[in-house]
Amino acid sequence: MKELLTSIAKERIYSSRKVAILTGAGISAESGIPTFRDKDGLWTKISPEEMANFDAFYKNTQIVSEWYQKRREIIEHTLPNAGHFALRELEHLFPSFHIITQNIDGLHQKAGSEKVIELHGNIMRNYCIDCKKYYELDEFESIYEHTENHIPKCNCGGLIRPDVVWFGEQLPRKALEKAFQTAEEADLFFTIGTSAYVRPAADLPIIALQNGAYVIEINPSKTGLTNFTHLHLQGKSGEILPKLLEEISLNLKQ
Ligand code: OAD
Repeated sequence: MKELLTSIAKERIYSSRKVAILTGAGISAESGIPTFRDKDGLWTKISPEEMANFDAFYKNTQIVSEWYQKRREIIEHTLPNAGHFALRELEHLFPSFHIITQNIDGLHQKAGSEKVIELHGNIMRNYCIDCKKYYELDEFESIYEHTENHIPKCNCGGLIRPDVVWFGEQLPRKALEKAFQTAEEADLFFTIGTSAYVRPAADLPIIALQNGAYVIEINPSKTGLTNFTHLHLQGKSGEILPKLLEEISLNLKQ
């Protein structure tokens, strides 16, 4: 079988202690969750202005809430794929290993990864826009089901929204700080299944590069980052990551 990695890539991987992984929608594509900007992506069917910003939620709460609930129900029944599981295995092979994800689907955690930084929130969490009370999924879904017009409200009367980052909103401060620190300190950085179109997430591989990390991209397509990376492994992450794990794990365990 043809090897994926060049000898330089192997050398850099074997000598790395701090690994950072940036993931985007592409890593969950093989689980059946659509990406945003590919041919059948979510933003080709509906514009983020209509759905993914606070004004849209405030003005058209029922439509936006129902759209998120539909996605939530799909995600609830979705399983991690071979790419997520390979990342979980890789976590045990390095002294420091962090996944920084733009995904809101929680599939890295479902696969068993422990160090996951969620940059864009998580669709399963919800909170009141007024008193900021957080709602567990069961409680939220019960309120959603029993509320007229599917407009979920808190006891205080405030609207309940998904804990995701919408366009025009700040990213969660702690997660962002941790992500920047992780990228700065990394010896090895993987950018997987992201178009690297949305900032500040797209800045992270560049920061890693500027600080001397070896940067590998896994993506079936080229992105704006590809020419800056050291290695582009062209293909689906659910196929490439298990092969990569197989190729490097023996040496890393020694
Ligand atoms: P995009 O839809 O922009 O990009 C998905 C990337 O995944 C593309 O580069 C595809 O080529 C690649 N891809 C597709 N299938 C793949 C597979 N099987 N394996 C590996 N890669 C594959 O999604 P993101 O880059 O995640 O933000 O988008 C970033 C942010 O834009 C999202 O978090 C979301 C969106 O608007 C918010 O909602 C705030």
